Amino acid sequence: MPTKIIRKEELIPGRTSLMLLDAPHVAAAARPGNFVMLRVDEKGERFPLTIADADPAAGAISIVFLVMGKSTDALNRLRAGDSIADVCGPLGRATHIEKTGTVICTGGGTGIAAMHHIAKGHHQAGNHVVAAIGARSENLLLFRRELESFCPEVLVSTDDGSAGRKGLVTELLKDRLSGDPSVREVVAVGPVPMMKAVVATVKPFKTPVTVSLNAMMVDGMGMCGACRVSLDGETRFTCVDGPEFDGNLVDFDELQQRLAAFKSQEKISHDLYREQCGCAV
Ligand code: NAD
Ligand code: FES
Repeated sequence: MPTKIIRKEELIPGRTSLMLLDAPHVAAAARPGNFVMLRVDEKGERFPLTIADADPAAGAISIVFLVMGKSTDALNRLRAGDSIADVCGPLGRATHIEKTGTVICTGGGTGIAAMHHIAKGHHQAGNHVVAAIGARSENLLLFRRELESFCPEVLVSTDDGSAGRKGLVTELLKDRLSGDPSVREVVAVGPVPMMKAVVATVKPFKTPVTVSLNAMMVDGMGMCGACRVSLDGETRFTCVDGPEFDGNLVDFDELQQRLAAFKSQEKISHDLYREQCGCAV
């Protein structure tokens, strides 16, 4: 069913956008950690996006996406008032949330938006939420104000030092863990190398670490196998068994290889699309 775009905001012009979608059924059932499968138009491919926020009272969900290829480029051309052909969800298992104490929610780049919904869930459950967010530069830091509105601690890093501490988000995480043995869980959402590095950083502290995987998906419902990942040598489907898993079990190198498998075809498809749109390639 076509889904109307209520509001669109280019958070980082030409790179990252937020859309507020009129999706009352999805908003009513959405839990932190869930995602939706979208199809921009009737001939488009289906692709997953994590729900960055849900407002059941307003019947709306927020999605945030990085313009990476043909489908996200096509999505980014839509404006408020336009419709997306299909928005199917909420899908995936919700984040396991219980009141435990201090939880550090770590977000890297675009992953900060997806982490936001999980952090909010932990806050609503009564946990002390520490947000540790990292981006390459200040202009790429997403959702800082939103996180500051409910997290008692928001730690910031940028690779170039333009905001917060200069360095990677894992350095913030290491320092915060070192000072507090009572941290109950670390959550990480972001690029695969970042999530792999988070798991390695947390390991010496023996704190449980949950990662949200961005595997390639086709149906999003457990039928095609496209989203398979290896967990301690066993195959799991990210769409129905995840997207969140115990980070210590994930084979990140295999995930990275699978995500790169169609890069050249994706580039050709994106270039063709931009030619057809009359955009410079
Ligand atoms: P990026 O590459 O700019 O990295 C953002 C931050 O992550 C960096 O500033 C750094 O602090 C940290 N980081 C990156 N690599 C690291 C490493 N090796 N060690 C320690 N810290 C590291 O991020 P981006 O370009 O915004 O990310 C885009 C990627 O994120 C895409 O591939 C997208 O698929 C993925 N993503 C994943 C999810 C998810 O659910 N896991 C959600 C949104 C986006
Ligand atoms: Fe098809 Fe997960 S996307 S099984």
